[in-house]
Amino acid sequence: MGKKQITLGITGGVAAYKMIQVASDLTKSNFNVKVVMTKSAAEFVTPLTFEALTGNKVEMELFARDTEIKHIELARETDLLIIAPATANIIGKIAHGLADDLLTTLVLASRCPVLAAPAMNVYMYNKPVVQENIKQLKNLGVEIIEPDSGYLACGDQGTGRLPEPAVLHEYILKALTPASLSGKKILVSAGPTREPLDPVRFISNYSSGKMGYALARNAVYRGAEVTLVSGPIGLTPPAGVKFYAVETAVDMEETIDELAERQDIIIMAAAISDFRPEVREKKKIKKEDRTGLTLSLKSNPDILKKLGKQKGENQKLIGFALETEDAINNARGKLNNKNLDLIIANSVSALNSDLNQVTFISKNELEKLETMDKNELAGKILDRLSRL
Ligand code: CTP
Repeated sequence: MGKKQITLGITGGVAAYKMIQVASDLTKSNFNVKVVMTKSAAEFVTPLTFEALTGNKVEMELFARDTEIKHIELARETDLLIIAPATANIIGKIAHGLADDLLTTLVLASRCPVLAAPAMNVYMYNKPVVQENIKQLKNLGVEIIEPDSGYLACGDQGTGRLPEPAVLHEYILKALTPASLSGKKILVSAGPTREPLDPVRFISNYSSGKMGYALARNAVYRGAEVTLVSGPIGLTPPAGVKFYAVETAVDMEETIDELAERQDIIIMAAAISDFRPEVREKKKIKKEDRTGLTLSLKSNPDILKKLGKQKGENQKLIGFALETEDAINNARGKLNNKNLDLIIANSVSALNSDLNQVTFISKNELEKLETMDKNELAGKILDRLSRL
């Protein structure tokens, strides 16, 4: 299969500069990126930048003296069209079916999903006529990416900012992914837990949270209602998840207890500390004249085991098994012991890496996968879920 084509429709707003990053990221993610700019957009950013980044000519002219009819050709080959930033002007034109330049004509000719990200001054954005036009775009089947709030280039504060490139990227991937998990509620746990010793120290592990975040992100792309419960890590939660930040295993247990019953699928990707210090000192432990320190630890709750005991009739429970030896047998033990539908065995080398090599183990099946990027693996795991 050839590369998917994303066409970026860029109109004349200051935020047009953010589309440089979007074009670059999409190209790196192996999409064929075409850019259509309005004349006003070219006042803010130069077409040459996009041509250098995407390797494709930027189209601006409806009546280019060419052998192809530009808007029809573009409409035919585009898998997804995103108009960002979308000015009040282009929104008004599309809402009323006008087609007086290449981009508006392309919108009329297109058969692919169309996204639009309104971005403008807050007072313009709040004008009833603009809001009416946005509503009309939705009626026409255009998916609207809501603007962010904050500092606007004109100096005003309020709603109207174009979301950051990473967020636009996620909307694009979501729009391209079939909604195979639509209507499903999925809870994913991710990251390590921290078990405090005193106000400045804790026991934790090397978990990066990347596997859990990739699962949450991919489940959002597939249309699921996703809740992400995460231990402390520096990753930004994927757009569209309901996010709960927790610190200790006990915090995670309390949060998951509240949420578990209403989930269709629970995936425990978190590396939960099995033990915590018996005593959490209120003051910093001083070295004074000690020659050493012995820590006394007590067991943390096994959240997954508890979930297995109270599992609902149609609920699916997926665990990870982190092993340094005899991975398959140990993982199989956890599958049975914790009453899981699927366990994913991985090795410690996955802990702080972008890559992972796993084996899927269910009651009757065992499937060893090759080493791959955690994002790609997240897709494979969600594919495997549909077989459960
Ligand atoms: N898990 C959990 N609560 C814990 C420990 C682990 O819910 N206190 C979950 C993990 O999120 C994972 C699965 O149980 O999905 C297996 O975790 P793992 O650390 O591999 O195994 P443990 O059950 O902790 O057993 P051991 O450390 O003895 O290998």
